[in-house]
Amino acid sequence: MNVNPKPVRKAVFPVAGLGTRFLPATKVMPKEMLPINDRPLIQHVYEEARDAGIEEFIFVTGRYKNMLEEHFDYQPELEQTLKARGKEDMLAVIRDSEMPEGKLFLTRQPKPLGLGHAVWCAHKLIGDEPFAIILPDDIVSHEPGCLAQMIETYNEYGGNVVAVKNVPREETKKYGILDIGEEKGDAVAINGLVEKPDPKDAPSTLSIIGRYILQPEIFEHLAAFERGAGNEVQLTDAMAKLLGNQAFHGLRFKGQHFDCGSRLGFIAANLAYSLKDPEISDGVREILNKL
Ligand code: UTP
Repeated sequence: MNVNPKPVRKAVFPVAGLGTRFLPATKVMPKEMLPINDRPLIQHVYEEARDAGIEEFIFVTGRYKNMLEEHFDYQPELEQTLKARGKEDMLAVIRDSEMPEGKLFLTRQPKPLGLGHAVWCAHKLIGDEPFAIILPDDIVSHEPGCLAQMIETYNEYGGNVVAVKNVPREETKKYGILDIGEEKGDAVAINGLVEKPDPKDAPSTLSIIGRYILQPEIFEHLAAFERGAGNEVQLTDAMAKLLGNQAFHGLRFKGQHFDCGSRLGFIAANLAYSLKDPEISDGVREILNKL
């Protein structure tokens, strides 16, 4: 089946959270600027979106978050210095981190009232078209990237697509778990969402990670600013209201996923990415053996 849906051209990056799990590191510096190997989290997810064909990048920012947009700016002094020193390879790296003009859009979330609220803050910039949401906390190591894989699934089925992965059954209580329908290869139809079920009641062990392709009707549900778990406006609550009215699929994406919003996931990601970096992998192995 190929339903030829409207293309996904825009991606929202919610970056207005407080990052309390990394305090005091995130007292002033945004969590999304923490580096995984040689580049910050926000650049990892920007590259994933760019390589998936996204044309407009929408940051939902908040207080103390200016560094995130500055990271993608042209840096003339730095470029001149690198050029003068003949560091052409580093110059290319720096240029790759610049966002071309007319591609970056900013909106603010005045108070961190939850992910659903952050996404709603981008509604004017999205308008009436499907869009992607990427959480910089979640990084997936794979070529093609997770979002590119999801867009392929979206082109086949249209509607809404989320990235899903299996969690250990004994841990279902920590996650939003999917009630699943028809299996379609790596994709699976979603019938329902159950918040943090007991392992014995969990309808599956599939959980959503921070990648979504959603239809603009989600904004109608988010606009109610209804508070859910943790007294926050939850994106999953609004998504649950779309279920049944629109196609909804989960994609078991290919690649290794790291939850960099937790300290352990962050360290695991740094080890995995540095062990794959030919410049330092031997050194990292040596350090690990010594430790
Ligand atoms: P988290 O649930 O990890 O929250 O948000 P957090 O505040 O960043 O971190 P902790 O839990 O206090 O350590 C997931 C993503 O959603 C964004 C965050 O910036 C992060 O990218 N977010 C969350 C917002 O933009 N606004 C919010 O109100 C909440």
